[in-house]
Amino acid sequence: MKKYLAIETSCDDTSVAVVDSRGRVLLCRSQAQDESHARFGGIVPEIASRNHSHFLLPLIERVLGEVGCQGSDLEGLVVTNRPGLIGSLIVGVVTAKSLALAWNKNWIGVNHLEGHLLAPFLSDDDYSPAFDYHSPYLALTVSGGHSSLYEVDSPGDYRVLGVTLDDAAGEAFDKFAKMLGLGFPGGVAVDREAQNGDPKKYHFPRGLIHEPNLNFSFSGLKSAAHRLLTPMSEEQIRSERPDLCASFQQAVVDALLAKLDLAQKQTGHRHIVLTGGVSANSWLRAQAEDWAKSRGCLLAVPPLRYCTDNAAMIGLAGVLRLEKGETSGWDVGPSPASWPQDFKTAEEL
Ligand code: KG4
Ligand code: ZN
Repeated sequence: MKKYLAIETSCDDTSVAVVDSRGRVLLCRSQAQDESHARFGGIVPEIASRNHSHFLLPLIERVLGEVGCQGSDLEGLVVTNRPGLIGSLIVGVVTAKSLALAWNKNWIGVNHLEGHLLAPFLSDDDYSPAFDYHSPYLALTVSGGHSSLYEVDSPGDYRVLGVTLDDAAGEAFDKFAKMLGLGFPGGVAVDREAQNGDPKKYHFPRGLIHEPNLNFSFSGLKSAAHRLLTPMSEEQIRSERPDLCASFQQAVVDALLAKLDLAQKQTGHRHIVLTGGVSANSWLRAQAEDWAKSRGCLLAVPPLRYCTDNAAMIGLAGVLRLEKGETSGWDVGPSPASWPQDFKTAEEL
């Protein structure tokens, strides 16, 4: 079986994987940088790229060593080259190109979001997908930087149906967690606190929920949270945290699932994908599963290890392209934004 090395450094996680030509993950290891950024309350791009340059080569050496393969055994290399923090992307891209040159292998730069869109189709010893990527599907991608709905006809053919008009869902979770003193990144802390809370105790707005389009808006949630928390004492906030988190989380989940429901009705798709860092949220996963059952749909959600940023999903996105004969030339570099040809928009229907 052919083996590919995949590298992800688009934001603050340094991640390296070896995948085979069917998207089976032989190994994926990531090095988080949360500790370096936590005291600044957000990701500091300069620190992220500096850390990548320290972590990446030792991580590649370790992953190849654990899989028991050498550069010469690889079929090709895949790296995220867009979109993301430019300094972080540069480290991954330059490393991948240099290794491809040294080992005389093909390489390809892929879109990070394509990785998220394909993450549910990875497989390993403990996970296999609910359906495969040959079925057209509707995808809800929710992460720290994006909240979007896509229609996917086949890998590589992505149509954007809706986007967030302001903040992404993950960003909303992170900002709310910061207001509650739960640290950064806070999505997972809100999820944990909410387990013992009452989702009906506080009312938060469900942005655009009654609008007949497929866009999202989460900035109203942030202002509502600010208004609610300002008159509360620190003590009160601490004791109300579970109810505050459960109520906030319910508002995000309601807003996401309302648009997923509308998109499903409009497109008629029965194969649904939920992916991106926020798809690690336990309440969103449970509610999406119930929703899919009630609509007679099949839902594919990656296991937690493939929800947040990881190199395995980048590997699958690249392998599907390399296997079709696509490669990147030496002149291809990183880009902070997606390329215009990456996604079709609704107008191109
Ligand atoms: O996909 P990802 O790892 O990075 C981006 O491409 O943005 O997503 C990170 C986001 C962060 O905002 C983080 O707070 C959120 O995913 N997140 C969660 C949970 N786990 C991660 N949000 C809510 N509940 C979780 N359990
Ligand atoms: Zn991501």
